[in-house]
Amino acid sequence: MNSRLRLSLLALPLLLAACTSTDQSAFHPTGADAARINTLFWVMTIGGAAILVWVCVATALAIFGNDRQRARFGGENVITIFGIAMPVVVLTILLAYGFIVLRAGGHNGSDVPADTDIAVSGELWWWRVTYVAPDGTEVESANEIHVPVGEPVRLALTSADVIHSFWAPRLGGKLDMIPGRTNFLTVEATEPGVSRGQCAEYCGGAHAFMSFHVVAHPPGEYEAWLESEAAPAREPETDAERQGEQLFIEAGCGACHTVRGTEANGKIGPDLTHVGSRRSLGAATLPNTAEDFARWIVDSQHIKPENKMPEYDIFSETELASLATYLEGLK
Ligand code: CUA
Repeated sequence: MNSRLRLSLLALPLLLAACTSTDQSAFHPTGADAARINTLFWVMTIGGAAILVWVCVATALAIFGNDRQRARFGGENVITIFGIAMPVVVLTILLAYGFIVLRAGGHNGSDVPADTDIAVSGELWWWRVTYVAPDGTEVESANEIHVPVGEPVRLALTSADVIHSFWAPRLGGKLDMIPGRTNFLTVEATEPGVSRGQCAEYCGGAHAFMSFHVVAHPPGEYEAWLESEAAPAREPETDAERQGEQLFIEAGCGACHTVRGTEANGKIGPDLTHVGSRRSLGAATLPNTAEDFARWIVDSQHIKPENKMPEYDIFSETELASLATYLEGLK
């Protein structure tokens, strides 16, 4: 066995292990559109496989069968029935079914009140997510899409730079995010929980690290979440947190990041007002712990090459720990 083949065989279990993770699997839908897409996939796959098997068997019988089988499967009748009539019938049924599925899931959201819009902007290489609070103010967050279960939500998708593609496989289909244009995608979560999404259009260096989480809240809990997200940042309570906040301001982090309630009001990078409550750092690249904040600040170009955040190797160990504690505490 040559070494390349052996390596491929060794890698196979790893690849298959990735299939057992369900948090980004279109085969485990938690949204109405994703469920329709999943059904469509299986109808097409099983139907296509059944026809393929039938064609192979018929071809084998026409070539290798006994006289009666060869006469039956090699005759002109077979061409007329299975080569012309059957494909026309099958393809017509599939086309009609496809239209029904598209119509069910393809509405542009005009039936959804506009105040349920969540604006999502793809940026190199993260997601700017803007909600509208009940009083009409815009609440900016990042890298997580929070939705209420059982209610259609219209996502207004655009891009700030290059073409990205929004894809939350367990929620619905994918849709391109195009600079200068807004595409609408209506999604409806059918069960509460957290799943994962991914940019589905190659957009340069850190494309593979441009992921996000979808958080579907049980009925009634979404409003409470939005209220807490709309609030200004929590005040630092410990000495470490106070030092962390001071370092954050003095090091100029506020040139790119906003922490509402402080003087940091940069718009270039993700809003960090409640970054400690998110499920990840760096657009689902690292877990959200104080240690990972410290790693990200010092080593972000190694963790997520080419991302727009410069590495900050200017802090002492204690300072870095305080900064990380402060950020992780922004719940
Ligand atoms: Cu954004 Cu790929």
